[in-house]
Amino acid sequence: MSGGGITARAGTNIALVKYWGKRDHQLNLPATGSLSLTLAELGTVTRVRFLDSTGGDRVSLDQMAADDAFSGRVSRFLDLVRQRAGATAAAEVLTRNSVPTAAGLASSASGFAALALAATRAAGLALSADQLSELARRGSGSAARSIHGGFVEMSPGRRPDGADAIARPLLEPGAWDVCLVVAVTASEAKTIGSTAAMQRTAATSPFYRAWIESVDRDLADARAAIETRDLHRLGAVVERSALRMHATAMGAEPPILYWNPATVAAMRAVKGARESAGPGGYFTMDAGPHVKVLCLAADAPVIAALLQTVPGVHRTLIARPGPGVALVEGGETSV
Ligand code: PMV
Repeated sequence: MSGGGITARAGTNIALVKYWGKRDHQLNLPATGSLSLTLAELGTVTRVRFLDSTGGDRVSLDQMAADDAFSGRVSRFLDLVRQRAGATAAAEVLTRNSVPTAAGLASSASGFAALALAATRAAGLALSADQLSELARRGSGSAARSIHGGFVEMSPGRRPDGADAIARPLLEPGAWDVCLVVAVTASEAKTIGSTAAMQRTAATSPFYRAWIESVDRDLADARAAIETRDLHRLGAVVERSALRMHATAMGAEPPILYWNPATVAAMRAVKGARESAGPGGYFTMDAGPHVKVLCLAADAPVIAALLQTVPGVHRTLIARPGPGVALVEGGETSV
């Protein structure tokens, strides 16, 4: 299993209908479906090489030795690959993000999608897209969606073994000229990770059940809006899904609040522009304070310029819909 290593790249994805809650922790099965957009510009490149030794894995992140928490998460994921391949060899994993790690910009989504493809190929396995999505989900629920490009829907599945809790593509990246404008409102890592936050929400928030029951309608609405390329209809779903997810988390004990003042100011700026016949953008936030705005590609520069004027917004990025996970040819030197 040794050799030059295999390199894969995945784009991150931003959920338009959020996933927030698990039906099984061991297998990381989501309690509901979710729907997302995979991005071109923000992602992860990962190279995996299995070594001739059976010692510990060597993991580097952005050209530095990764900390124990990160390495442990990668090693536990590699154990799933080793199990499948009937192997025991340690691995060297080099990974580089073009997304601030753990700052709520969804680096785990692209990270585990890229790792799933690179590690399985490096171990001599050739998995189907469905199998890769199922495997990536074990690393991070949202990673199952980054296997595919463009608009993607994740099914919660019904089977206890999780084989049907996988993502499938809805609309390819070039089929609708939309963009996501990202307003970065903090540089530090998030205060509570999504797994712990979901667990606390499910155990203590009185709003959790209502949240879970609300998701299917949002999924149906979002699907119909995407099919008819109706941004206004999709945008309404995007904003209410994000606000309901955050409201549910805020209802936990102790409460989980990811926002900062710039988050709220950016939401108001986007809504204000839309209501005064300016560019039509629709906001969403994940497990962090950053604001992502879905809009037509033609409106993205104006929305980015508007967000740049919001106090507390550090910088903005414009990301287009991008492809699913893929191998990088000759990628040995690029990580
Ligand atoms: O994939 P995880 O475990 O990091 O959870 C993702 C949670 C959200 O980003 C807030 C929502 C989502 O559907 O991506």
